[in-house]
Amino acid sequence: MQFRRLLVAMLVGAALLAAFGTAAGNGLTGKLEIFSWWAGDEGPALQALIDLYSAQHPNVDVINATVTGGSGVNAKAVLKTRMLGGDAPDSFQVHAGQELIGTWVKADRMEDLTWLFEQQGWTNVFPAGLITLLSTDEGIWSVPVNIHRSNVLWYIPANLEKWGIKAPTTWDEFLTIAPALKAKGITPLALGENWTANHLWESVALAVLGPEKWQALWDGTLSFTSPEAVAVWDLFGKILEYTNDDAASLSWQQATDMVVGGKAAFNVMGDWAAGYMSTTLGLEPGTDYAWSASPGTQGVFMMLSDSFGLPKGAPDRDNAIAWLELLGSKQGSDAFNPLKGSISARTDSDLSLYNAYSQSAAKDWQNDAIAGSLTHGVVANEGFMNDFATVMEMFLTSRNAQQAAYACDAIARQNGIGT
Ligand code: GAL
Repeated sequence: MQFRRLLVAMLVGAALLAAFGTAAGNGLTGKLEIFSWWAGDEGPALQALIDLYSAQHPNVDVINATVTGGSGVNAKAVLKTRMLGGDAPDSFQVHAGQELIGTWVKADRMEDLTWLFEQQGWTNVFPAGLITLLSTDEGIWSVPVNIHRSNVLWYIPANLEKWGIKAPTTWDEFLTIAPALKAKGITPLALGENWTANHLWESVALAVLGPEKWQALWDGTLSFTSPEAVAVWDLFGKILEYTNDDAASLSWQQATDMVVGGKAAFNVMGDWAAGYMSTTLGLEPGTDYAWSASPGTQGVFMMLSDSFGLPKGAPDRDNAIAWLELLGSKQGSDAFNPLKGSISARTDSDLSLYNAYSQSAAKDWQNDAIAGSLTHGVVANEGFMNDFATVMEMFLTSRNAQQAAYACDAIARQNGIGT
């Protein structure tokens, strides 16, 4: 047994050597603090990256600084305090798009990474549209580690069969089957804490508006008070009637658990839910759990991308650059994403390493129309997002669609959306 362990250790060591050239890395020492919200059961994919980093740079002490809370609700606030207080971590998680550009790039707190993209040949392996999300005229500002999909409906095939229903392809279909489920004591649609309501809202908006008009909201060419935009809130209110009353107290994982445990029929969540169900719960995609595009959004992939940047004044700059090199590499990406439920942001990833869910997501990413997520930082800056969370809280209590639409119009103007 001991001999086998030794042999396995030697083989792993040899593989790492082959992959990375030297056993002792390139002489980096000291520490590396990486900051993210991938804590607890969101952690395994990040840990796989840290393990690779530690194998490459054994003399660097990696500090995995996490702040729990889905979609970064708490982490972003802590990061803000640290960044403004001159206590930047070496590298931090930030969504590609306006969360990066409209917040930290605008504040002139990030280093331009164009040179790293050129040195690593990344301008050829990341899709041009994604690089645009990471860039301004002045530079490229972070390194993407994945592509996640926001508009996914999750369910358990065996439960649907038991209840004699099919996954709805439109919200009308959902609203037709929901009352009977509710009468049986089954929650038609599991919901979690407030940011997950924002998450559901963007899928509903995409269904009502389609990808062009969704984008038009952010370009400023479609008003938040237009009849279509008001219709989003109307439909959203109807759907909320079929969600659980204790939503505000549940994490996104607990909302997923409701579906897995047969207490709820469906959940709309990003495909980190696939990571959770496969990696943490050990379920098999396609048999134990299944998915479809959220109702009314077939053929559209609402995307978001987690990335890491290099803040100005990072205390361990060289170690952080080595971290970014790993994140953008094929090895790093293909170690992280199969565990995370996301797909690689690179166009040359090895799909044989990915499960059935991710392979289908990779196909959709190639073929679908692309829309950007609001809740996960693509289309609007953090100022708007924070205000939108307030509008959502108001709506969850008032259920007043007109009022929510007018409030969105006001916060869009305040935060420079579409200007
Ligand atoms: C998203 C993030 C995902 C996942 C999710 C739940 O904002 O992009 O990687 O962590 O939040 O926390």
